[in-house]
Formats: sequence, C-alpha cells, structure tokens
Amino acid sequence: MKKAIVAPSVLAADFSRFTDAVREAQEAGAEWVHFDIMDGSFVPDLTFGPKVIADLRHQTSIVFDVHLMVIHPEAFIERFVQAGADNITFHWEATVHTHKLLSTIRAAGKRAGISIVPSTPVSVLETVLPDLDIVLVMTVNPGYGGQTLIQGCLDKVKQLVHIRETRHLDFLIAIDGGVYDENIRTVCDAGTDIIVTGSAFYNAPDKRTLVRTWAQAAPLTEAKSLR
Ligand code: DX5
Ligand code: ZN
Repeated sequence: MKKAIVAPSVLAADFSRFTDAVREAQEAGAEWVHFDIMDGSFVPDLTFGPKVIADLRHQTSIVFDVHLMVIHPEAFIERFVQAGADNITFHWEATVHTHKLLSTIRAAGKRAGISIVPSTPVSVLETVLPDLDIVLVMTVNPGYGGQTLIQGCLDKVKQLVHIRETRHLDFLIAIDGGVYDENIRTVCDAGTDIIVTGSAFYNAPDKRTLVRTWAQAAPLTEAKSLR
C-alpha cells in the first residue's frame, strides 16, 4: 500500500530544544520534518532563520522541509540552500517572480514548492505547475499553529489531483494546518500526499502510532520518489 509522508512541524515543539524536536520526529518514523520560517511581516509572528537549520543539519539526515512565510523570499533562498534544506517552499502571495525562484531552487538540487493561503485559488499556479515539486495548500491562515482546518481548502487538493492527472504532471500535494485524528480521513480522501502537523504531533502521547496511522490513510503520487 502506498503511504503518505507525515511532516511534523517544529513550530509546535519547545523552541529551546530543537534537537529533541527533530529526534522525536525521526524516532516516530516521520520521513520529513517541517520548519516554519516567519518574518513578522508576511505573517505576524517571528520564528527562526537559516542558522537553526544549518546547526541541526549536522545531526541528522532526515528531510528538511522549509516553509518560508516571508515577503521577498528571493532574499533568503541561497541562505537556506547553504544551510542544508532539502525542500524549499515559498508563498505565491509573497513574490512576483515565482518561476525564477522555482528555477533557482531546482538548480540547487532541492525540491521547489509554492504555498497558497486559503484565499488564493489554485488557478494562479496554472503556468508554473510543471516547474515545481510541491504545492503546499494552507488549510489555515498562516502564522500560528493550533488553528482549525478550513474545510473548503480541501477542495483545492481535489482540484490539484485532477489537474495533475489531466496534465500528466507529478508534483506532490501537501497540506498544512489544523490536521487532527478527527479529520485525517477527510484530508486523505481529498488526495493529500504530504501531511504537515504541528500540534497534533507534538502533543500526541504516542507519536509513532500517529505517524503510522496517518501515513497509511493517504495515497502517495507514484511518479515521485521520496527519500
Ligand atoms: C502555520 C504553519 C504550520 C503549523 C501547523 O502557519 O505553517 O506548519 O505548524 O500547525 P498545526 O498542525 O498546529 O495547525
Ligand atoms: Zn508550515
């Protein structure tokens, strides 16, 4: 059976213990760990920068999935490449140069992703879909963990599944925000490949079971190889 990727977001972990947060993700069987970079401008809060990624990179080979919630992401791509990110996802709403940024990320040998906030339709991605590896559909308004999933955003996942099939593309579809045991079935039925989880994962008493059961609930794009 194909499995989804569960990507714990360290946003919900103890920021004084990043090493433990990454280790917990790895020990639970997660294949990716998700880093939310916030600039206090694109979103209200601030988190951390590339040095945290670089320092953690020495400790583990787990896939580092970096989500840039920053305006002018072009200013930071090279820093996160150098820091050791494996995937770099920026927001469509934060730059006009989406195609150029995707090319830069791919040229560095990284997976390139674009994220869209709840009010942004899938249609804005029409021309760049062949040039990206991940579409990250925000299922909450970005900026905070622990919010409620906006159900209507799952329609965007279904649209992307349809487009991927009809246009013979092979990007991965990720969702981010508000996923819990109570809605995992709906999330997976929509066609999600990558499930980002902050609160549910770091508050789970049995993280290994969470990763195993959530991963089994979703289909994964066969065309993509994931390490
Ligand atoms: C929200 C972040 C998410 C966040 C999800 O702006 O992009 O990655 O950590 O957290 P939960 O799972 O708590 O909604
Ligand atoms: Zn995120």
